[in-house]
Amino acid sequence: MAKVFVVTSGKGGVGKTTITANVGCALAKMGDRVCLIDADIGLKNLDVVLGVENRIVYTIIDVVNGNVSPKEALVRHKILKNLFLLPASQIATKEMVSPDDMKRIVKELSKDFDYILIDSPAGIERGFRNAASPAEAALVVTTPEIPSISDADRVVGLLENFGYSDDDIKVIINRIKPKMVKKGDMLSKEDIESILALEIVGAIPDSEEVIAATNRGVPIVLDGTYITKNYENIAQRIRGEEVPLEEDLKSSPNKGLLSFFKNLFGRKG
Ligand SMILES: Nc1ncnc2c1ncn2[C@@H]1O[C@H](COP(=O)(O)OP(=O)(O)O)[C@@H](O)[C@H]1O
Ligand SMILES: [Mg+2]
Repeated sequence: MAKVFVVTSGKGGVGKTTITANVGCALAKMGDRVCLIDADIGLKNLDVVLGVENRIVYTIIDVVNGNVSPKEALVRHKILKNLFLLPASQIATKEMVSPDDMKRIVKELSKDFDYILIDSPAGIERGFRNAASPAEAALVVTTPEIPSISDADRVVGLLENFGYSDDDIKVIINRIKPKMVKKGDMLSKEDIESILALEIVGAIPDSEEVIAATNRGVPIVLDGTYITKNYENIAQRIRGEEVPLEEDLKSSPNKGLLSFFKNLFGRKG
């Protein structure tokens, strides 16, 4: 049976779709059978980031309506043959899918995959419930700014109401900017601690290359630049391998990042 994760956040635009695509690719590269489910309809949909938008025949709405089975609606990645996407529909609204539909779909797909990652919309509405209810673990994405952290904290509260235990909720810090660290635009101790009460499974620097890769429709994990390792580290941690968080620094030439981490860890212990 697949291990099912929801990738979620409080604020939009923090990198959920990018992370879903790249961690999915990294897991698939390691040989796992991976299914990504797009539970969000946004500007940069999962299909576009994966570069499979022209291959979509059916969407999740066809599955909900009973036109096709979940498996029949899957789109296979061009390069990674063990990576599949269940696409969102561009014309449907979130109200056309219910949490029970999602649970049924995920249960059926679970048999054929090692990992299922569900890309969630931001916020706390129906779309979030659809994405969170069929999963057993959550990756909460936040940027290191205070508004993003407090929104993430709110989502953590919601996930707990859904029955997620603290062990099932992991945090990824995305778009860390060395300049921000220097300017003193740091999080308050309380904000950091409220997040650090949970395990951090990834720290990703802000990188122009991520944006360029998104625009090309080639997940950066398939490109082999320095930031690739950050997504691979997350994939390894998801698989239960011990990869110290300090490893996430090694990919980056930025000194500022190092001080950011020292600050983070220094306060913790
Ligand atoms: N580490 C990063 N560095 C720079 N840009 C990033 C990074 N991660 C994501 N982005 C960019 O941020 C924007 C929003 O990312 P996206 O994954 O669509 O967020 P979400 O799904 O949370 O709305 C995209 O243009 C994406 O390329
Ligand atoms: Mg998104």
